[in-house]
Amino acid sequence: MTPPKHVAIIMDGNGRWGIRKKKSRNYGHKKGIETVDKIISAAIYKKINYLTLFAFSTENWKRPKNEVEYLFKLLNYYINHEIKNLLKKQIKIKILGNINQFPFKLKSNIRKIERLTKNNNNIQVNIALNYGSRQEILMAIKKIFKKHLKINKTNLEKNLYTSNIPDPEILIRTGDTNRISNFLLWQCIYSEIFFEKKMWPDFNEKDFYRILKKYKRIDRNFGGLNERN
Ligand code: FPP
Repeated sequence: MTPPKHVAIIMDGNGRWGIRKKKSRNYGHKKGIETVDKIISAAIYKKINYLTLFAFSTENWKRPKNEVEYLFKLLNYYINHEIKNLLKKQIKIKILGNINQFPFKLKSNIRKIERLTKNNNNIQVNIALNYGSRQEILMAIKKIFKKHLKINKTNLEKNLYTSNIPDPEILIRTGDTNRISNFLLWQCIYSEIFFEKKMWPDFNEKDFYRILKKYKRIDRNFGGLNERN
């Protein structure tokens, strides 16, 4: 089994974790940032080429204003504090999603980090922000239509946020919830899905390596038959 090139993660459970610790949902999000750092390092160690992290969905606007604002604050914090590290570790950041609705300062910070890291080549970390799979597919169809192109698989894939990125072999969701929540629906058709009981702030490198090990033992036949059948 060839090692996975792309691992996608739904980082769920921050809010519940914060409440369980008798703190706040926002405290859970803050802790979640530490796990982001750990898992990026683990993915680099395992020579994963692409890591995609679901950080803010098109549905997350429905959350209380204070939580949405806190998530934006954390993203700003992450960008300001991590830039040196991202450059040192040669991490390329790419945003998947439509950030037009984001506050001006955050938007320009996000654009800056994409620009500054664009030539890094150790790993590409895709951060899904204001991302929703249905919105992405509709956007791609509209772009194809506008360019008067044929509607086919190749053109559709070229017009998704994930253009030129291979489909994830692995999709992980933490937080003891077994659903996909509008994440990479086109790209994950043959992903091996791992639902983890742990909340995102408790998830660690060992959990990540355990999943990679389990993945190695899976026979993937993409709807066909493999040697054992
Ligand atoms: C889901 O947990 C998590 C989020 C909506 C936000 C994830 C954001 C971070 C980890 C921080 C920023 C990320 C980066 C990449 C810098 P939830 O709030 O839905 O948890 P719950 O299910 O317990 O309510």
